Amino acid sequence: MSTTQAQGPAIHVQGLTKSFGKLEVLRGVDFDVARGSIFALLGSNGAGKTTAIRILSTLAKADAGAAVVNGFDVATQATDVRESISLTGQFAAVDEILTGRENLVLVARLRHLRNPGKIADDLLKRFSLTDAGARRASTYSGGMRRRLDIAMSLIGNPPVIFLDEPTTGLDPQARIEVWQAVKELAGQGTTVLLTTQYLEEAEHLADRIAILHEGRIIVNGTLTELKQLLPPAKVEYVEKQPTLEDVFFALVGNDERGQS
Ligand SMILES: Nc1ncnc2c1ncn2[C@@H]1O[C@H](COP(=O)(O)OP(=O)(O)OP(=O)(O)O)[C@@H](O)[C@H]1O
Ligand SMILES: [Mg+2]
Repeated sequence: MSTTQAQGPAIHVQGLTKSFGKLEVLRGVDFDVARGSIFALLGSNGAGKTTAIRILSTLAKADAGAAVVNGFDVATQATDVRESISLTGQFAAVDEILTGRENLVLVARLRHLRNPGKIADDLLKRFSLTDAGARRASTYSGGMRRRLDIAMSLIGNPPVIFLDEPTTGLDPQARIEVWQAVKELAGQGTTVLLTTQYLEEAEHLADRIAILHEGRIIVNGTLTELKQLLPPAKVEYVEKQPTLEDVFFALVGNDERGQS
């Protein structure tokens, strides 16, 4: 990463629009993500989270607006953007037949990095997979597979990583393991943009939380700022602080509650 690219936010999104036929999915999305921070994009099913991530990772083109990732314009500097990012989708890119270590070595080789074996061993250690490293990925639990998938996405040290629903389908323990891995990443200076349906996940992980609703970012702030959007905590017998869930449903509407 050159120093010129280290200026400004890691991700800058302005006026992004995207329609599929008559369906206006993004209608002018704006947000910035500071370097080394964790930014959570929340939204109901179909809100456009994956669409936004696909645009930011150059897999899809916006109809209008600007998006800059690591200082590079996604529309005109796609190659530079791709070299700056990694994308982990909901379905793991892990090869089941290979061992965890072989998966990592393979990616390091594909990226023409020196010392693929050492890179693999370091990542196995970092994600607490050293003991499982020699086992086929098909024998891994969901949480282990997810951690391996995230480890694979870190090969080459991309400054920006996109995690699209990193913990969907994981049990609480596995989810906590992934959270720890993500926190560690940001601690080391990587910028993380994640999408999630789990409000608890955003509460735990994110420095800033944005809610995408009907094609726009309707709120964007820290957890504390979001909680202040609701009337002050009611004092009854005990003081009840609003949860992010209360804020989300107050803003988005209660009819969303109950959908998964
Ligand atoms: N390639 C496409 N062609 C047509 N419609 C699409 C396409 N991609 C997405 N859509 C539609 O755009 C809307 C937003 O989809 P998107 O996948 O971005 O939502 P999401 O917020 O990621 O939802 P989820 O929480 O279910 O993952 C949906 O209505 C979806 O059907
Ligand atoms: Mg999605």
